[in-house]
Amino acid sequence: MISKPFTARAHTNIALIKYWGKKDKQLILPMNSSLSLTLDRFYTDTEVYFDSDLKQDLFYLNDEKKDAAKVAHFMDLVRSKSELKAFAHIKSINHVPTTAGLASSASAYAALALAASRAAGMQLSLPELSRLARRGSGSASRSIYGGFVEWQRGHDDLSSFAVPIEENTDWNICMIAVVIDKARKKISSRVGMQRVVETSPFYPAWIKSAEHDLTAIKKAIKERNLKKVGEITEENAMKMHALNMSASPHFSYFESATIEVMHLVELLRSEGICCYYTLDAGPNVKILCSVEDSEEILRRLAVKFDKKQLLIAHPGPGVQLINKK
Ligand code: ADP
Ligand code: DP6
Ligand code: CO
Repeated sequence: MISKPFTARAHTNIALIKYWGKKDKQLILPMNSSLSLTLDRFYTDTEVYFDSDLKQDLFYLNDEKKDAAKVAHFMDLVRSKSELKAFAHIKSINHVPTTAGLASSASAYAALALAASRAAGMQLSLPELSRLARRGSGSASRSIYGGFVEWQRGHDDLSSFAVPIEENTDWNICMIAVVIDKARKKISSRVGMQRVVETSPFYPAWIKSAEHDLTAIKKAIKERNLKKVGEITEENAMKMHALNMSASPHFSYFESATIEVMHLVELLRSEGICCYYTLDAGPNVKILCSVEDSEEILRRLAVKFDKKQLLIAHPGPGVQLINKK
């Protein structure tokens, strides 16, 4: 038996209020709620079909055969929810650098959740899809939706999922990704956040402060207040990175070029350009700004960086099935 193949496309999202710490590692329940912007520029396409002749799941990423352990664990979940017992062929293409702090795990597991559940004969609702994607990677719960998305932390498997805040936002904002290093990060998000939860003396303060930031940013988004949204975003990211530096052993994702970009953004701001930075589990910087200001910001960044390192993204759509080529 070979099931009908399904291919899904999901876009990455960058958190303005970060998810950084798990309350439950197995169910991937977060310590705090988070909020992100889904981006049009970066995405993953994943095709899945089940094949009863297979002895195990087969996983190809960017046309290379990869260790399927993590993906197989996720597929076990899909199998347990459906009637299907067969293993699957999984072929995925990342239009985003993998494991570089540009949220490949978010687009990856959102795409896999939709493709695998449909190939297994299930038609899950969007909240159900978000819950399933969450089990692959927490940030993937948010990539089910486009635009601004909140992942409500909830208190158990049923109550922890993302909700759209503004799916099709008409706000003319963008995010410039400055790709400093495409290489695999030294400490995965999973390991980094766990170390922080276990060892940072500041962790309890983070939880409180993140919930406060979330309330404030939702209000600022509604008011289309870029200055406020930017300030909250930048401060929230710095609090997350301060946790990493206060862990034991301490660590940081910053490289010297990371700090250079941060300083340039601060300089531009002092010149009256409304732009703010955020950083995830990697050295690459994402700059939040208005579409009108983006050209000037790109021009200033181009003095120090190659054009190929500067990628501009706008709000993107939620997960969808795509026709096979
Ligand atoms: P990132 O910053 O890119 O999200 P993470 O460390 O959070 O980095 O996640 C990377 C994890 O996601 C790795 O285990 C990687 O193998 C997995 N991953 C990335 N892309 C895909 C994909 N298209 N399909 C399945 N798994 C993927
Ligand atoms: C810094 O979702 O990649 O990007 O749930 O362990 O797979 P796992 O981690 P992941 O963590 C993302 C962390 C972050 C912030 C965010 O996206 O909210
Ligand atoms: Co990730």
